[in-house]
Amino acid sequence: MTDDHVTREHATGADVPEQASWDARYARATVWSGAVNPQLEAEAAALPPGRALDVGCGEGADALWLADRGWAVTALDLSGVALERAARHASDAGRGDGVVWRQGDVRSLVTDERWDLVSAQYFHAVDVVDVVRRLAGWVAPGGTLLVVGHHPADLAVGLRQRIADVLFTAEQVATAVDDDGWTVEVRAARERPARVGDADVTVTDAVLRARRHG
Ligand SMILES: C[S@@+](CC[C@H](N)C(=O)[O-])C[C@H]1O[C@@H](n2cnc3c(N)ncnc32)[C@H](O)[C@@H]1O
Repeated sequence: MTDDHVTREHATGADVPEQASWDARYARATVWSGAVNPQLEAEAAALPPGRALDVGCGEGADALWLADRGWAVTALDLSGVALERAARHASDAGRGDGVVWRQGDVRSLVTDERWDLVSAQYFHAVDVVDVVRRLAGWVAPGGTLLVVGHHPADLAVGLRQRIADVLFTAEQVATAVDDDGWTVEVRAARERPARVGDADVTVTDAVLRARRHG
C-alpha cells in the first residue's frame, strides 16, 4: 500500500512497541540536522553508484545524499512519521526521485532483493550483531556493508548513558562477517567533533566497512 509515497510492509510487524516510541520522538520535533552522516560521506563517496539500502533511514538525509549521487535507494525505517516527513521534504525540495521510502522492521523483513550498498547509520538494537548478520545477507556479490554506530567510548566522556545498551564497537559487529565470503576494509573507532545539547564535544563512532566477494 502506498500513502504519501511511503510503502508499508504489512508482513513485517509495523506495530511493534519500538515503532510507537520512534514515531513519538519524530512527532515531537525534527530530530536530526538533515545533513549527510559524516562516516557515510567518508566511506561511500568513492563507491560506484548502484542499488543502496539505507537501514533506519530516519528523516532521509543519507538516502537523499546517495540518490543525488546516482544511487537507486531503498530507505527503510520502522517509523511512518519519519518516513512521511522524509518523503515530504524530498518532494518539496524536488529531490528523491531515486528513493523508495519503505516502512518495515529490519529484524523481520523478508526480501529476495540484494543491494550493492547496505548502510546502517546509528541504528539502535540490543541484538545488533544479529541485525548486522541480516544486513550482510542482503549485500549483493561485490557489494559493501557499512555499519556505523555510537561507540562505548562515549560513555567515558559522559555521553549516551540513556542508550548504553545499544552502543557497540566495530570489532563486535565485524563478527557478523568473519567468514571467507568477506573482506573487512575498515574496522575503526573514529573520533569527530559534535554538538550535544549546548556543548561542543568529541564523540566516537564505530565504523565497519566490509566487501562481499564477487
Ligand atoms: C538513531 S536513529 C538514526 C536515523 C538516521 N540513520 C540518522 O543517522 O539520522 C535510528 C533509526 O532507526 C529506526 N529503527 C529503529 N528500529 C528499527 C527497526 N527494527 N527496523 C527499522 N528501522 C528501525 C528508527 O525509527 C530511527 O529512525
